[in-house]
Amino acid sequence: MLSLDELHAFYGQSHVLHGVSFEVGDGEIVALLGRNGSGRSTTVKAVMGLVAARGSVRWRGRELVGLSPFQIAHAGLGYVPESRDVFPGLTVHQNLLLGEKRGRRTPRWHAEDLYALFPRLKEREHTAAGVLSGGEQQMLTLARTLMGDPDLVMIDEPTEGLAPRIVEQVAALLHELRRRGVSVLLVEQKLTIALDVADRCLLMGHGRIVFDGTPAALRATPALRREWLEV
Ligand SMILES: Nc1ncnc2c1ncn2[C@@H]1O[C@H](COP(=O)(O)OP(=O)(O)OP(=O)(O)O)[C@@H](O)[C@H]1O
Ligand SMILES: [Mg+2]
Repeated sequence: MLSLDELHAFYGQSHVLHGVSFEVGDGEIVALLGRNGSGRSTTVKAVMGLVAARGSVRWRGRELVGLSPFQIAHAGLGYVPESRDVFPGLTVHQNLLLGEKRGRRTPRWHAEDLYALFPRLKEREHTAAGVLSGGEQQMLTLARTLMGDPDLVMIDEPTEGLAPRIVEQVAALLHELRRRGVSVLLVEQKLTIALDVADRCLLMGHGRIVFDGTPAALRATPALRREWLEV
């Protein structure tokens, strides 16, 4: 289980997270929703050790605040940033293999599992990652992170700018993550995919959690959506 308690985060003098607390249970898919600038990306970056933070982030009982991103990744957390993050000169397949972490145990994922979920990556297996479309690079970034076999993966706006057919593939991937017992913290701006796959939804506004409940409760409360999501 991942457990944030009164997490604060800073960019230099700028205080961006103001005491964020929530949990992601084992095998749970939790959506972190909010408008532009509400602090969603900062939250996942702070968990990953990529921005200065104060407060507590516990993962399986171990305190993560103060550890390096490398140590946090090694503890079993995966992170897929908003920006695509591929090695442009290497092929799709080489990118996938670079994601592997050896020696932990028999991994949940082989390259072929991810190709089955994202057939387009299989078609482009021997193509240099740098010439893929933006959406394909996004899929590859996701797939490469999964090759590292995280027990919990934080995915920042995976459907942003993707064609509807690809959004469906991302949704299918989330269901597959659930089947394989991977916990997910899914950052999104739109409700569509979140209401469909999440066990629980968090709403964020101005660096705080303003709602923590089921997708059904969120669906049933238009006032919340108006205040914190829709523009
Ligand atoms: N590197 C940075 N330096 C200074 N301020 C930043 C930096 N990154 C984000 N911020 C500020 O922190 C606040 C929260 O940003 P964050 O990126 O976490 O929002 P978000 O919810 O992910 O929204 P979006 O992805 O749509 O921008 C915003 O006010 C933003 O301007
Ligand atoms: Mg963001």
